[in-house]
Amino acid sequence: MRFKPTCVGRPSLNVTHKAEGDILVTGASSGIGRAVCEKLLKKGWRVTGISRSIEARPLQHEHFSALAVDLCDFEQITQKFKPKLKIPRAISGIVFCAGAGYFGSLEQLEFKKIQALITLNLLSPMYLSKLLVPYFKAQSSGRLIFIGSEAALQGAKKGTAYCASKFGLRGFVQALSAECRQAGLNVSLINPGMVDTPFFDALDFKPGTSPSNHIPLSSIADSVYNILCTDSNTVIEELNLMPRNRVVKLNKPR
Ligand SMILES: NC(=O)c1ccc[n+]([C@@H]2O[C@H](COP(=O)([O-])OP(=O)(O)OC[C@H]3O[C@@H](n4cnc5c(N)ncnc54)[C@H](OP(=O)(O)O)[C@@H]3O)[C@@H](O)[C@H]2O)c1
Repeated sequence: MRFKPTCVGRPSLNVTHKAEGDILVTGASSGIGRAVCEKLLKKGWRVTGISRSIEARPLQHEHFSALAVDLCDFEQITQKFKPKLKIPRAISGIVFCAGAGYFGSLEQLEFKKIQALITLNLLSPMYLSKLLVPYFKAQSSGRLIFIGSEAALQGAKKGTAYCASKFGLRGFVQALSAECRQAGLNVSLINPGMVDTPFFDALDFKPGTSPSNHIPLSSIADSVYNILCTDSNTVIEELNLMPRNRVVKLNKPR
């Protein structure tokens, strides 16, 4: 008997059913989050894109809605998400892409900015997950995909704050996965190396210019899509994506 892929597009790792439904994507206005939104819309998902500026620059697609939220403001998160959580089965998953970088030797870093970074990169996904997990448990399903970083795998010079936020996120994701898989939730972490996005605009370094120096946005968007297409009885716990040639260049922050 011939294998018939049911996922639209290229057959991929463990694909056994058609991926479709309603998904939330944080960080939808830029870089990785925007690429994930575009990919999922192309594949027939209905996407709610979340960021502070998303309502000013939404994606032009009939299945896209924009939700402006400052993810560092937990009261705002609660208010904006409560109405969505009242509709049963309206959300089948979430992709956490919002985040930022802040680098320098520890004594150079401002404590307020460290707090802001930990709030955005670690506490906000924890807080939003805390709101969504009871909802997903009630429907015995839910896909939670977090964008971590290579900085979650190995500490590096000038990365004390950023590595702490991403190591923390990785620990949270592993614990959440162990805690929720019996209830039917699939929790995954993607750790990318450098991707050429506006993430580097405010930083004094960026990836080298050769295509082998950074991961294309499409690789991350494809990985998110493949995770969503994977049979729910298979949990993809963690994926590490690295450029073939790691080259860092000095950058003049904008
Ligand atoms: N680029 C890389 O090399 C790389 C590598 C590994 C991991 N990552 C991780 O990938 C994720 C996305 O990075 P990126 O490269 O796509 O960066 P990016 O292009 O700068 O996008 C960051 C996104 O986060 C949103 N955001 C920032 N602060 C927010 C807030 N307070 N509330 C709501 N949304 C907020 C931004 O939207 P608004 O400004 O509209 O709010 C934007 O959509 C981050 O977690 C980053 O750590 C990036």
